[in-house]
Amino acid sequence: MGRLTRTPSTMVVMTRLRYTETQMNLTNKVAIVTGGSSGIGRAIAESLILSGSHVTITGRDPAKLEAAAADIGAQAVRADVSNEQDVGRTYRTVLEKFGHFDILVNNAGIGVFKPLVEMDLASFERVFATNVTGAMLMGREAAKHFVARKGGHIVNIASTASLHGAANGTAYMASKFALRALTECWRSELRKHNVRVIQINPSEVITPFAEAAGFPQTDHPSKLQPEDIANMVKSVLEMHDRGFTTELTVFATNPAT
Ligand SMILES: NC(=O)c1ccc[n+]([C@@H]2O[C@H](COP(=O)([O-])OP(=O)(O)OC[C@H]3O[C@@H](n4cnc5c(N)ncnc54)[C@H](OP(=O)(O)O)[C@@H]3O)[C@@H](O)[C@H]2O)c1
Repeated sequence: MGRLTRTPSTMVVMTRLRYTETQMNLTNKVAIVTGGSSGIGRAIAESLILSGSHVTITGRDPAKLEAAAADIGAQAVRADVSNEQDVGRTYRTVLEKFGHFDILVNNAGIGVFKPLVEMDLASFERVFATNVTGAMLMGREAAKHFVARKGGHIVNIASTASLHGAANGTAYMASKFALRALTECWRSELRKHNVRVIQINPSEVITPFAEAAGFPQTDHPSKLQPEDIANMVKSVLEMHDRGFTTELTVFATNPAT
């Protein structure tokens, strides 16, 4: 288009087109979301599907997983992230169907909240098995694939619990601190291979997590919803992959207590 024919309105259109072209397009990307059968993971999976990605979700409870997959249009792989065989089967299933993958969202997580003097070994190890060992096993296999492909995206769903300690946080908060350390180590190793490692830290979000962890949660319009976190994940992924957000912390503005 010649310079003289540019009007203010066509210049706005050209600016918008240029902006769109310099985003990462999620259409036809292949993504894996662990713990995609509920809460934040399900919302992330749905948001990626609505953006045109092909998404595989995992979880342990087959009925919950199949129902979620059917609702949002995802592929389901019943798998426990802390089980190495399950992790291997997850990746084999994805590669058989799609031949490659672009995005891993390490979201599966559980919580146990007890004072130190009441902490039992089984609870402590259960939290670390899913939140830390599971993230490592999933991340390790993704990293092999991404290094070979010279690019990829890992999003670790941590928590504001990865940023500070508090009473009753011995298992959960320590696991999220550990996940934060994994994020930083992977970023150091993988950046030179064009792999973006991104951490998201939600504060309280209304999901079944609290009830499963044994503490009451009251819903309120002022509190964060899973879709708020999904929007943030979509947004950091959509940034052109010449750059990336290292870590993003999300608080409710003024949540009801
Ligand atoms: N809700 C919050 O306030 C909040 C705040 C900050 C961070 N987070 C983090 O956000 C992530 C998602 O939590 P959420 O609130 O969405 O919880 P949620 O609704 O309870 O969902 C957890 C998901 O993870 C799956 N899962 C749990 N253990 C697993 C394992 N070993 N292997 C595979 N899947 C497993 C669950 O399915 P199955 O049980 O069927 O396996 C479910 O799909 C967690 O990492 C959590 O720590 C949550």
